[in-house]
Amino acid sequence: MNISLSIPSDTQVGILGGSGIVNRTIAFRFAASGWSVSIGSRDPARAAQTASGIAQSLPGADVQGLTNGDVAARGGLVFLCVPYDNAAATLRSCRELWQPDTVVVDTTVPLVFDPQRGAIIQTVDGNSGSEVLVRELPERVPLVAAFKTIPAHILGDVHEPLDCDVIVCSDHPEAKARVMKAAMQFSGLRAVDGGPLRHARALEAMCCMVIGINRRHKAKGGRFRVVGL
Ligand SMILES: NC(=O)c1ccc[n+]([C@@H]2O[C@H](COP(=O)([O-])OP(=O)(O)OC[C@H]3O[C@@H](n4cnc5c(N)ncnc54)[C@H](OP(=O)(O)O)[C@@H]3O)[C@@H](O)[C@H]2O)c1
Repeated sequence: MNISLSIPSDTQVGILGGSGIVNRTIAFRFAASGWSVSIGSRDPARAAQTASGIAQSLPGADVQGLTNGDVAARGGLVFLCVPYDNAAATLRSCRELWQPDTVVVDTTVPLVFDPQRGAIIQTVDGNSGSEVLVRELPERVPLVAAFKTIPAHILGDVHEPLDCDVIVCSDHPEAKARVMKAAMQFSGLRAVDGGPLRHARALEAMCCMVIGINRRHKAKGGRFRVVGL
């Protein structure tokens, strides 16, 4: 597949845990939009392999594989895409590395899967995972909760428009606006301001709900759109 690229300036994105099957499609979508993309991994060889796979599909794409720490040190938008149980430790390992222009985009959801009851949210004192994780960042690094409600199956099909909303929550309006603008580049995706970070509680519950809806309807592509805006 050949996609022509137009490269805008100041467009830098990194993915912590970017070698994951779903996360590499986020990287692919940004690379296809002309962003400079760094794939992070605990193992730089795995990250390099993922980056090379994307570069093969997108000749001319600016994509490289790095350690998670090197991704943090590069700055820009940094997507946190590791399992929730490992997310705090991943942020902690980057603590001294964050750059002044960085915004962390938290996609993680604190889910556990119960064989009888399906997906269940694990909260800490009623807080969302995002409200817990933001404590691992220095005050100067804003965290934005986003992409929590879009199923992997939908993100992964790069040939189809996403045809849904990404609801974005943060206590930092500028950081939120930056993430919303970036998300709008994905074909068929509309970014909706979901308010402050505490509303990530709803996003995480919606993720849990959509997993159940898809399971009950034997579907993979159920997702959310806000009507009437
Ligand atoms: N899948 C979905 O539909 C969906 C939807 C919305 C949100 N999310 C959230 O997105 C996040 C990633 O989901 P996923 O399904 O892509 O997860 P995943 O495939 O299990 O993990 C993604 C990457 O995280 C890294 N990782 C794994 N274990 C780790 C550990 N112990 N410490 C640090 N890094 C580790 C791995 O990269 P390396 O081995 O290369 O380091 C892995 O490729 C989750 O928090 C999930 O809740 C998923």
